[in-house]
Amino acid sequence: MCGIVAYIGPREAYPILIKGLKRLEYRGYDSAGVALLDKTLNIYKCKGKVAELENAAAGKNVHGHLGMGHTRWATHGEPNDVNSHPHLSQSGDIAIIHNGIIENYATLKEELTNRGHKFISDTDTEVLVHLIEDVQQNTHTTLDEAVRLALNEVIGAYAIVIISKNDPAKLIGARKGSPLVVGIGDGEYFMASDATPIIEYTKNVTYLNDSEIASIVDGKLTIKTIDNIEQTPYIHTLEMNLEAIEKGGYEHFMLKEIHEQPRSIYDSLRGRFDPATGMFAMRSLKEHEGKIKNLKRIIIVGCGTSWHAGLVGEYLFEDIARIPVEVEYASEFRYRNPVINEDDLVIAISQSGETADTLAAIELAKEKGATIFGLCNVVGSSIPRASHAGAYTHAGPEIGVASTKAFTSQVAILTLWAFGFAEIRGKATMQDLRNAFAELETIPDKVQKTLQCEEQIKELAEIFKDSKNFLYLGRGYQFPVALEGALKLKEISYIHAEGYPAAEMKHGPIALIDEAMPVVVIATKNSTYEKVISNIQEVKARKGIIIAIVTEGDNKVRKMADYVIEIPETKEYLEPLLSTIPLQLLSYHIAVLRGCNVDQPRNLAKSVTVE
Ligand code: G6P
Repeated sequence: MCGIVAYIGPREAYPILIKGLKRLEYRGYDSAGVALLDKTLNIYKCKGKVAELENAAAGKNVHGHLGMGHTRWATHGEPNDVNSHPHLSQSGDIAIIHNGIIENYATLKEELTNRGHKFISDTDTEVLVHLIEDVQQNTHTTLDEAVRLALNEVIGAYAIVIISKNDPAKLIGARKGSPLVVGIGDGEYFMASDATPIIEYTKNVTYLNDSEIASIVDGKLTIKTIDNIEQTPYIHTLEMNLEAIEKGGYEHFMLKEIHEQPRSIYDSLRGRFDPATGMFAMRSLKEHEGKIKNLKRIIIVGCGTSWHAGLVGEYLFEDIARIPVEVEYASEFRYRNPVINEDDLVIAISQSGETADTLAAIELAKEKGATIFGLCNVVGSSIPRASHAGAYTHAGPEIGVASTKAFTSQVAILTLWAFGFAEIRGKATMQDLRNAFAELETIPDKVQKTLQCEEQIKELAEIFKDSKNFLYLGRGYQFPVALEGALKLKEISYIHAEGYPAAEMKHGPIALIDEAMPVVVIATKNSTYEKVISNIQEVKARKGIIIAIVTEGDNKVRKMADYVIEIPETKEYLEPLLSTIPLQLLSYHIAVLRGCNVDQPRNLAKSVTVE
């Protein structure tokens, strides 16, 4: 989850690296550093953000046409100047930046220490660069070959980039488990942990596969496996544009992404169904029809917000397609020897497509013979590539660490799949599909309308910004929305919040309710409406403050609640796409009023590529 960017070519590397690091800061922001080769190898690094690195490098020699930069999210060793990347080899000639974890670093460190190596940081990364130099010295080989040989001794996950003072025309990168993309320009090359720092310069990229090493030597790119087999690079043309990854006039990426949802949901659905005929155009459905017809169970895996989308998926698949579903935290699933059969379908949900636990869960399920569908946002990322089929959400780049538009796009695709599965299994008629599609088509406009509650939300934020706790309640399809609302609030405003099934409240959380406890209740007019009203009364009886999300025109809840936010009416299974919006806005505006760093909340990272 650290960010990596590197450059070799005719331009000055430093401005490219700094700009790239700023774009990558969402991946981690404990510390930052650069290495630049200009006769000498110059390294500047420090704890803190990229702006602090710029201050540290101000007035120093930042020239060089070969360089690399890193923004860190600490795993081994606390975030401080010494542990920041780049790290140097024993002689100081070779520099490395690294994303991931070297699991056998302690053993390697011991062996190298016995051979006289001295380490100055606590990191696993420093061990790796010492190992590379040790191998190069012992085998009298080239840098690229030494990297390959050293990686054969390493257990763990990595994306690395290496430069050496002795090889001014070489840039070397490798990946296993952590993403690395190579940008191919006109007489210049880039490497980065995702395409965002590269897009400004070239749209031609190649994504390294696991256990591949990319060497740019004298202006030529070669890709080899760590077993020394040369690979032909597959060149992708990037479709995203720079504007899409800038803030577009909004104060924060998160707010921009919340407001993009009418568009991102539309883009997720576009061309995938035809409301007039009730027909689907999804390859995952067409190519796996036989599998879908006979599958006995769906297992949905994910982490964080993607796991919440999975919970909505459980309601959708069971309700609409009548298929049993289990929703699993990927990190639990992978380590508890789960029962997986060949007639199971595993749906892996991940915005980034790189979450280490989700990726590992897929590998486990694949080994046991299950079919894997990936539901991801980042095109070309690891999870789609490791899946048998799937769908991209097409929500566009999501930069704010707190996931918003990715969630609603995931739910939109899960809805399509639920109906697609239902049709294949004879649980939905063409008329059912036409009705569903007709309503689905209205959702982007209804999301737009829901966003109009923002002024009202700002007033609520002002009232509740100093609350110590929040409770979020929902039933049925709205229970995962309650969980997601609570997660959004705690991750960006640092207010403690819990999401609960509304009826379950009386088995515990009700003890917390008093006149200082705001309780957000999703009380839309659906099959559990009356039940939720009883739950609201239970809260009111204990003097709790009710903020209710209700269906437009509702009078009943309005009379009981302290504050009411209206959302447009829709079918029950589509309500999460609307009811999530005010909860996203509430957490955003509370966090802003509390002076929190909304896009980069403390301790969190956008893409968690370590387990
Ligand atoms: C991190 C992010 C969350 C995200 C989760 C899963 O914790 O901060 O916003 O929901 O990872 O990420 P994924 O990319 O797999 O959806």
